Amino acid sequence: MLDTIPRDQAVGLRRVAPNRAWSLAVTSGKGGVGKTSLAVNLALALAQMGQRTCLVDGDLGLANVDVLLNLHPRHTLRDVLIHGLTLDEAVVQGPVGLQVIPAASGVEALANLDAAHRATLVARLQRRPGHADLTILDTGAGLSRTVVALTLAADEIFLVTTPEPTAITDAYAMLKILTQRRAEVSVRLLVNLVEHAAQAREVHGHIERIAQRFLKRDVPLAGWIPRDACVERAVCEQRPLILYFPHTRAAEAIRGIAERVARTAVRGPCGEFWRRLVESSVTSACPDRGAGHRRMP
Ligand SMILES: Nc1ncnc2c1ncn2[C@@H]1O[C@H](COP(=O)(O)OP(=O)(O)O)[C@@H](O)[C@H]1O
Ligand SMILES: [Mg+2]
Repeated sequence: MLDTIPRDQAVGLRRVAPNRAWSLAVTSGKGGVGKTSLAVNLALALAQMGQRTCLVDGDLGLANVDVLLNLHPRHTLRDVLIHGLTLDEAVVQGPVGLQVIPAASGVEALANLDAAHRATLVARLQRRPGHADLTILDTGAGLSRTVVALTLAADEIFLVTTPEPTAITDAYAMLKILTQRRAEVSVRLLVNLVEHAAQAREVHGHIERIAQRFLKRDVPLAGWIPRDACVERAVCEQRPLILYFPHTRAAEAIRGIAERVARTAVRGPCGEFWRRLVESSVTSACPDRGAGHRRMP
């Protein structure tokens, strides 16, 4: 959880336990709200700050982290989960030391593994010598059980929305499902494509009021990112914003968010992300829920 532990204490935790890890899922209800741009640039900003960071592409349908980073991966997470590859073999080296695990396909098959296979898999996933301290997971949009299972594997969730009413409605629907599955799950709101700070506060206030009333939970604001033409330019040119357009407003906003993440992430035992991923794939194995969940509240 961010901000729940005083800064001194969080730094103290890191000092006594340098090999502890923390994970963040970037998710949304609606597609096209900027999850991948945020996940890629946040991960790069953290790597630039010297954090050992791993970016996992968890968008099974439209995996495009490798496209944004102009990487040419040979393997996917499917090779790890199904075909026995180690995580180290699947990792691609990205810029500034960022580790990338392309396309988390194969996750949907986890629900069918028996307990013994799951235990073996978890042990293999956790046996990773060059592990990362921070794992950033880019997910697909929507309320499918795979997206929910992936998202719930993380310690913390950034729920991305834009000021559009449809994005807000779908963000709330996602929040509701996540909260129903894991009441104590830590979710923060990230408002993208914002014109000015007051607009971000307004969107946040709207979602938080409904969440407090109907879900009995808080949704703190993780930050906001302005609409900035350089984000699109960076995507088109396959040159990451943080590295090639570092002085733009969007890059500065993302660096600010990365600094807060690095400062306040409360790290736990390594490998928990992978254990929860395997386990929540089983517990989330219920029929996909669709339009019925998209109504507020
Ligand atoms: N802050 C921003 N300013 C301008 N364009 C943005 C911003 N964030 C995202 N975009 C654009 O929105 C589109 C969708 O972004 P993407 O990260 O792929 O969304 P998602 O992963 O949620 O589907 C991309 O073309 C991207 O360039
Ligand atoms: Mg995406």
